[in-house]
Amino acid sequence: MIHVGIIGAGRIGQVHARSILTGVPEAKIAAIADPYLSDAAAAWAKDIGIEGIYKDYKLILNDPNIEAVLICSSTDTHAQISIEAIEAGKHVFCEKPVDQSLARIADVEAALLASPKKLKYQVGFNRRFDHNFRALKDAVLAGKIGDVQFVRISSRDPEPPPAGYVGSSGGIFMDMMIHDLDMLRYLSGHEVVELYAQGAVLIDPAIGEAGDVDSATVSAVLSNGALALIDNSREAVYGYDQRAEVFGSRGCVQNANDCPSTAVISTVDGVISEKPLWFFLQRYMAAYQAEIRAFFDCIANDTEPEVGIEAGRISIRLALACKKSLAEHRPVKLSEIEG
Ligand SMILES: NC(=O)c1ccc[n+]([C@@H]2O[C@H](COP(=O)([O-])OP(=O)(O)OC[C@H]3O[C@@H](n4cnc5c(N)ncnc54)[C@H](O)[C@@H]3O)[C@@H](O)[C@H]2O)c1
Repeated sequence: MIHVGIIGAGRIGQVHARSILTGVPEAKIAAIADPYLSDAAAAWAKDIGIEGIYKDYKLILNDPNIEAVLICSSTDTHAQISIEAIEAGKHVFCEKPVDQSLARIADVEAALLASPKKLKYQVGFNRRFDHNFRALKDAVLAGKIGDVQFVRISSRDPEPPPAGYVGSSGGIFMDMMIHDLDMLRYLSGHEVVELYAQGAVLIDPAIGEAGDVDSATVSAVLSNGALALIDNSREAVYGYDQRAEVFGSRGCVQNANDCPSTAVISTVDGVISEKPLWFFLQRYMAAYQAEIRAFFDCIANDTEPEVGIEAGRISIRLALACKKSLAEHRPVKLSEIEG
């Protein structure tokens, strides 16, 4: 039995706890820690049988029976807790992003290298474990579309976050597009060498006043010469819109949104199908389960996580390049970004 501690009992901490309970029978959630644990969260933790319910995550790190931790706390705590967890000899699953600064991510990488144990470190890029995006990747890997020439990724949320969230989140590139920047590398199998980001405030002026944009596009050139386009919107009125297409020398592969059902109603007025599932907690529940399953498989089989610290670092380099491009109104080469 692998004993695990969860650090951060908010939305995603509870999602990952459920994934362990329902899909990882060889793991036991021994403890959970959150300094701002609400009564409801404490009752939930007790209800699902967690014995150690703490405010201080150090109690988890100091427990020699706990082999692995899931870091699900707010973004600004990830790097520090990662380093302390690695130094305490724990395997780490860390939610994205590892940090907003490349220097802090380098500190986490240094701690991993310095550890005398061969620790696993997985970053929470859940979309790599989604069945629709996997199907695209499998088609590309199998050579079905030949050499990759274009990648298009659309990622649109159903509703914007509160403007207050924007400041701490690092903005649309760090918080939201980071998944798509990782997806671009994953689907194409190539690195971004240059990108041009544009952004606008089209949805909520308060997001603009908080210093961010709510709509963004990125066009990119990849290391094999292929071209890519990403678009992000904080508000798609029809639901969570998550699609991608890879076009190549021998064909094209694209996916569609998951809907509550595939029923299509055809009448004299038209043909109507269901809207996409509402948001990430509905759309990606199976992907969250699969990434947690994969993390524990890596521990059990002593294999390297598919999404390690390098993917975490490169995604932040890309997000920093996007921010620079938007601020300076010009294409930015990745070689301009340190790290
Ligand atoms: N991969 C994904 O799809 C995905 C989805 C949602 C959130 N996230 C990431 O997960 C993280 C948490 O997001 P959320 O939506 O669950 O937020 P949330 O606000 O619901 O939960 C965060 C929790 O962390 C707790 N916390 C803060 N400091 C802490 C500390 N020092 N020790 C322990 N707990 C601490 C807070 O009290 C809060 O309960 C963010 O970094 C976010 O980017 C990833």
